[in-house]
Amino acid sequence: MSIASSQMWKYSSFIENKNYSFDKEEILKIITKNQIDEAYLTISKWESYSTTPLLKLNKLSEELNLNSIFYKDESKRFDLKSFKALGGAYAVEKVTKGNKDITVSTATAGNHGRSVAWGAKRLGLKCKIFISEYVSNARGKAMQALGADVVKVKGNYEKSLEECIKQSKENNWQIVQDVAWDNYILVPTLTMAGYSVMMKEIVDQINNDEITHIFLQAGVGGMAGAMVAGAARYLKKIPKIIVVEPDSAACVMESIKIGKLEKVNIIRESLMGGMSCGEPSLVPWQILKKSVNNCISLPDDDIGKAMKMFANASFSNEKIVAGENSAPGVISLVASCNDANIKKKLNLNQNSNVLLIGCEGDTDQEMYQKLIKQ
Ligand SMILES: Cc1ncc(COP(=O)(O)O)c(C=O)c1O
Repeated sequence: MSIASSQMWKYSSFIENKNYSFDKEEILKIITKNQIDEAYLTISKWESYSTTPLLKLNKLSEELNLNSIFYKDESKRFDLKSFKALGGAYAVEKVTKGNKDITVSTATAGNHGRSVAWGAKRLGLKCKIFISEYVSNARGKAMQALGADVVKVKGNYEKSLEECIKQSKENNWQIVQDVAWDNYILVPTLTMAGYSVMMKEIVDQINNDEITHIFLQAGVGGMAGAMVAGAARYLKKIPKIIVVEPDSAACVMESIKIGKLEKVNIIRESLMGGMSCGEPSLVPWQILKKSVNNCISLPDDDIGKAMKMFANASFSNEKIVAGENSAPGVISLVASCNDANIKKKLNLNQNSNVLLIGCEGDTDQEMYQKLIKQ
């Protein structure tokens, strides 16, 4: 049986952005060209830096009759196995400016905290991490292993952030958060500038190919916003931009629908843990609101199966370690190709060069093993 015709690839909703109007200059006022360039110049000098692979999902593109499908494999990002390593660690370096007496702090679902802890360790700084009771022990231990003091807080992510802000004020710690709020804009912007390094690498890796479509996973929208800013900075021709979210936490989709920031009530936490966020962050929202063409939301049903297919080399010649948050890109692409209406709307055809972001590897090994064995 062919890959695309199997009993999977379900999507829940697909919408078009009625307010689409891509404006490079406006975007580069939110994250500036200088911020993007400085992030690349700084991070590319880090001792352990190397470009992550841009793989071709050649078996899948052949089957879907697309020209190519590029997959940016962030499972190889430093030893943290996620694009998040580019953001938090970079923000730590920028805000502490060489001062060794600063303690940095953050609240996290896992990968951002690992990046902050790793960034603090690189620079010999103390680090306090606040996690909710729902963050797995494996993720907590990974941050402890990087030298961070990990504090578990009763309640959800919001509660862990409240506690982080309270204790940081009392103790004069420097908060390095990836989410923006009123008067807390610079650090999340720097975090996104760090993520945009992925786009610089991709532009150098694709030679003369022209990307026609980008599928971008979103939690609070930081990664998606950063990649759009990277596209504004580096690409001559702007591809169609499609945001992908869990259907239980499609806050970017709901905001795009009404043209303003919208909160969604998360009733059930998605398997795609890093993307289970109820409200877009302010900085990425400013970027995404007019630059996203379409949004698509997915149930959790096919995540494990897609991860297994990555692992078995079903999509490409090589086996790929793709975590829970890496699977929705490929699921939404195949779902879009399987639906004649969407395929036509997105103009997906034999000339398309699609970019997918493999944003993490097995960042939670226990969970990864469980999901690919299902
Ligand atoms: C591991 C992980 N965390 C979080 C996210 C979401 O990022 P953001 O909250 O910046 O939208 C993703 C991908 O979208 C991810 O792969």
